[in-house]
Amino acid sequence: MELKFEQVSKNYKDKKVLKDISVKMSTGVYGLLGPNGAGKTTMIKIMADVLRPTNGRILYDGQDIHIIGNEYRAKVGYLPQEISFYSNFTGGDYLKYSAALKGMGKLYTKNRIEELAYHVGLQDDLKRQCHTYSGGMKRRLGIAQALLDNPEILILDEPTAGLDPLERVKFRNIISAYSKDRLVLLSTHIVSDVEHIASKIMMMEYGVIRYMNTSEEYIKMAQNCVWLAKMSAEELVEYQNNAVISNVIAKDGVMEVRVIDEEKPFADAVQTASTLEDVYLYIFDYLPEKARR
Ligand SMILES: Nc1ncnc2c1ncn2[C@@H]1O[C@H](COP(=O)(O)OP(=O)(O)O)[C@@H](O)[C@H]1O
Ligand SMILES: [Mg+2]
Repeated sequence: MELKFEQVSKNYKDKKVLKDISVKMSTGVYGLLGPNGAGKTTMIKIMADVLRPTNGRILYDGQDIHIIGNEYRAKVGYLPQEISFYSNFTGGDYLKYSAALKGMGKLYTKNRIEELAYHVGLQDDLKRQCHTYSGGMKRRLGIAQALLDNPEILILDEPTAGLDPLERVKFRNIISAYSKDRLVLLSTHIVSDVEHIASKIMMMEYGVIRYMNTSEEYIKMAQNCVWLAKMSAEELVEYQNNAVISNVIAKDGVMEVRVIDEEKPFADAVQTASTLEDVYLYIFDYLPEKARR
């Protein structure tokens, strides 16, 4: 299976929100990373065929998804960034209702809901009304909804928003297990959500996919640009305005600062291995800063 974006763009009035996106995806997990306002949700809505592009098209195995329409949408599971529930619905009602909209049979629906509720840890909560759910529970219910009909293409917009650390780990495991023979695209601005499970990660900014690489390839990009330096808290307050800092560890009153820089920032700074988090800052903070200098 192949999903191919061909010069997809989206304008709102004269604002260009997506600019000539051309990417190819097949099975596996794809991460879509980028700061707020980058255009992730817009790209995702177009991919889920709930929003039409201004120009360009998406081909599913060579066929325009807009032309195959329902046949394409039947293959797609979609978790929107903003989920809304009828407030008097229970979690179980919501899943049954969603299954009916997808045209799923009764017995299959029952089995599938039981299975998914267990996977997302809501097996004891399906009889409760959705408005009594926590943010994390609502998100998990949304994830179960997206997975209901075993979609070949699973599109998740900020699926980990509101999940606690343990829920995030469980989510990543569900997605890893699910992605065999399927395409999963998930957007996030949290690097660790996709670092270890995505086969390819797209870095998006200002409506453009700036890079599409594997984690390993990204890590090489910043391999000589990460430094550790020690300073006082007062020095750090001054220093941080003119530097890209990816982390600080306070130890016995001394700040160990992780700095992104192509040049050695201090005589006693020590180079260290880069992580995807460093690369994210290198791409979105350091490179644009440098261009301005
Ligand atoms: N319906 C809309 N009308 C006008 N501008 C919009 C609309 N939806 C999104 N935008 C703008 O498009 C840009 C990209 O938004 P979005 O796709 O939601 O980004 P992200 O999901 O990466 O945060 C933002 O500047 C946003 O304000
Ligand atoms: Mg968004």
